[in-house]
Amino acid sequence: MTQLEDGFGRQFYYLRLSITDVCNFRCTYCLPDGYRPNGRNYFITQAEVARITRAFAALGTQKVRITGGEPTMRKDFTELLRTVADTPGITKVALTTNGYRLAKHAQEWRDAGLTHLNVSVDSLDPKMFHQITGENLFHEVMAGVDAALDAGFEQVKLNSVLLKGLNGKELDQFLDWIKTRPVEMRFIELMQTGEMDQFFERHHMSGEQIKQRMLQQGWQSVLREKDAGPAERFWHPDYAGKLGLIMPYSKDFCAGCNRLRVSAQGKLHLCLFGEGGVELRDLLAADEQQGELIARLQSALQTKRETHYLHQGDAGSTPHLASIGG
Ligand code: GTP
Ligand code: 5AD
Ligand code: SF4
Repeated sequence: MTQLEDGFGRQFYYLRLSITDVCNFRCTYCLPDGYRPNGRNYFITQAEVARITRAFAALGTQKVRITGGEPTMRKDFTELLRTVADTPGITKVALTTNGYRLAKHAQEWRDAGLTHLNVSVDSLDPKMFHQITGENLFHEVMAGVDAALDAGFEQVKLNSVLLKGLNGKELDQFLDWIKTRPVEMRFIELMQTGEMDQFFERHHMSGEQIKQRMLQQGWQSVLREKDAGPAERFWHPDYAGKLGLIMPYSKDFCAGCNRLRVSAQGKLHLCLFGEGGVELRDLLAADEQQGELIARLQSALQTKRETHYLHQGDAGSTPHLASIGG
């Protein structure tokens, strides 16, 4: 087997597969008001998902994260999960969700092969949660988190985008919350996307200060696995949960890049920011195209850049994260 590798010697084990850009929430940092999805009839089908996953698995991918939009909006979501989980070579099937269908379906998804789960929870205060997400569904989402813990996933993580003046003061509450719960709490630096310049200026917070505070309070670094996501991870002897910091503006963030993206429109994205995507769809129509698909993935990788364009202010190339699955 040839492991996917780029021109900088980085190897790729982790596919982020977006299956829709439709979302039922309107998080202030993500989807602009009035956003219309790209067209739900054109999202990759179950057969296309199977071919993409098989091609990546043949190139050494072990972990597939299903993203969106909100992936669970798809009616065939459970079948899609099963398709990914049944692909030989795929050992971790992960989902990033807003959690609104979790309470009802956690066990069903676990049984279909989902192993790892990330749920966005931007505040532990129901009013602030409503303000940030546009939905008054805090209690429903938290019931989902409880259901996920009961369902026995290998890992449950909560995502919170750090927002100065909004949830920025809730750090201590989040830490209290993971004192007794075996959940990884991740704080994500707000990333500047195309249509939110002012929001970014007003609310961006650096994760570095939080990191220094955590180190002073006895949190210790966790060693990085080869298919790990972008978070710097920490543990503490007095806490059941872990802590993760995702700091895309920090130096060397991209040196550890091990992931690739395929959008719901069937385009390969080599980076979240700063490139237009490589068309795959013409090679997803039949199983016989598998060899060509693999060859296109390998040659596309040679054009992957060393780092993202966030530092150069070229956020405009990514209108919002839902468009290519975060
Ligand atoms: P794990 O696999 O559990 O570590 O998850 P993850 O952090 O890769 O996935 P998740 O979907 O929960 O993403 C959390 C945040 O990290 C989101 O804001 C993503 O957009 C961001 N993120 C993930 N990968 C990258 C990346 O390669 N570059 C940048 N800039 N952001 C990323
Ligand atoms: N900056 C940082 N994180 C973002 N997310 C969506 N948009 C942004 C942004 N502009 C996060 C969501 C979710 C994850 C998939 O991506 O909160 O946790
Ligand atoms: Fe990889 Fe691009 Fe993310 Fe950097 S920003 S870690 S290069 S996907």
